[in-house]
Amino acid sequence: MTKHKIPRGTYDILPTESYKWQYVQNIFREVAKLYNFKEIVTPIFETSALFERSVGDTSDIVEKEMYKFSDKKGRILALRPEGTASVVRSLVENNLDLQPNSSKVYYMGPMFRYDRPQKGRYRQFYQYGIEYFGSENPLVDAQTIAFADTFLKKVGLKNYNLEINSIGNSNCSDDYDQALVNYFKPHLNELCNDCQRRIEKNPKRLLDCKNKTCKSFAVKAPSMLEYLDEECKIHFEKVQEYLTKMNIDFIINPLIVRGIDYYSQTAFEFIDTNLGAQNTLIGGGRYDGLVKQMGGRDVPGIGFAGGFERLLLSMEAESISFGEEQKPNIFLVTLGENADEFAPSLLAKFRANGIASEFDPDKHSIKAQMKSANRINADYVLILGDDELANDKINLKNMETGEQAEIALSEIIAKLKEKF
Ligand code: HAM
Repeated sequence: MTKHKIPRGTYDILPTESYKWQYVQNIFREVAKLYNFKEIVTPIFETSALFERSVGDTSDIVEKEMYKFSDKKGRILALRPEGTASVVRSLVENNLDLQPNSSKVYYMGPMFRYDRPQKGRYRQFYQYGIEYFGSENPLVDAQTIAFADTFLKKVGLKNYNLEINSIGNSNCSDDYDQALVNYFKPHLNELCNDCQRRIEKNPKRLLDCKNKTCKSFAVKAPSMLEYLDEECKIHFEKVQEYLTKMNIDFIINPLIVRGIDYYSQTAFEFIDTNLGAQNTLIGGGRYDGLVKQMGGRDVPGIGFAGGFERLLLSMEAESISFGEEQKPNIFLVTLGENADEFAPSLLAKFRANGIASEFDPDKHSIKAQMKSANRINADYVLILGDDELANDKINLKNMETGEQAEIALSEIIAKLKEKF
């Protein structure tokens, strides 16, 4: 028989690891509640055109990394490489962009990018993210960044930096693009093929090229911050002011342009200072023109997304606890035919009363059953033999202290409910 292998760049979240995921997901939901964001769930595939038009056709994502396919009716679809485009599509399709109040949503789920897998980079990875629509106010930028910062602090991370930049808007971005073209053009032959191709269409892409030579030019390139118009400058200053007021430390990094086309003005990244190459924990920014570009009203927006994998790697590197692994309250050990027969109805009663219960379906020896109870870390073991059953008794053992007590079987549920 052939053993099947998991596709390259994917992984299983095994039962021994899943509690870590649940732990961070729960914290993310808690923070969403604190900031009054509600969950949105969109499909994991959309029309490919949605991403081509929003993420942009000169982005690595669209040019190289999309899982694009046609279905049986020839529709061209793509596994979502990110969440923002889908959320904007849903906002417009469900007329949420027409509401007077801001829309504040969060999401979690798998995203797909065909990239070279390495530590912290996968072909199917899991993002958490938020999108905040309806306000151009720089306070909203600061709130969005504060949400991300609160989340990282709540999971316990310490070794990270917040880097921010402004990439301007359509009024000032063109002059900057021209400055970049003028700067890079004399070095054209030394640049990688991608940069040579992108220089005319989207020169900002050259600033986040991963190629070593291109990078060495990028660090000396003109800074967007010198090209910001008055409005963008004030906006960026206000964002900084609000962050300072909230005691959120930041570094200004003019090289942050983000790898996606929809951004304008504020762009930010949370960088882990320990992780290797894939060290961006969270990336985000403003995308004021996107809703309109996708057929909606002219509603501004800002958001961020982070990868759960990198978050977990960072937490592990900082030896942060993920809470307790799931374990049952009780393990029921039975001995004798009558007790065995009685077990299913007793277990059903426990569960109906909220007592998480486990047992050994194949009724091994009492020693083997006790071993199983130990292995799965049950809080208590209940031992029921035929004699006990006949006398309305059951034995309760506290697995932590070793203490044992005989209790009336008819009272066991009330007794256990006191404990859990
Ligand atoms: P992004 O920078 O492409 O932005 O991705 C955000 C985060 O997702 C990254 O910082 C990283 O933590 C994680 N990530 C991306 N690709 C991979 C991968 N192949 N493997 C593991 N983790 C990965 C966006 O996706 C935007 N939609 C963020 C956003 C929301 N901007 C505004 N709203």
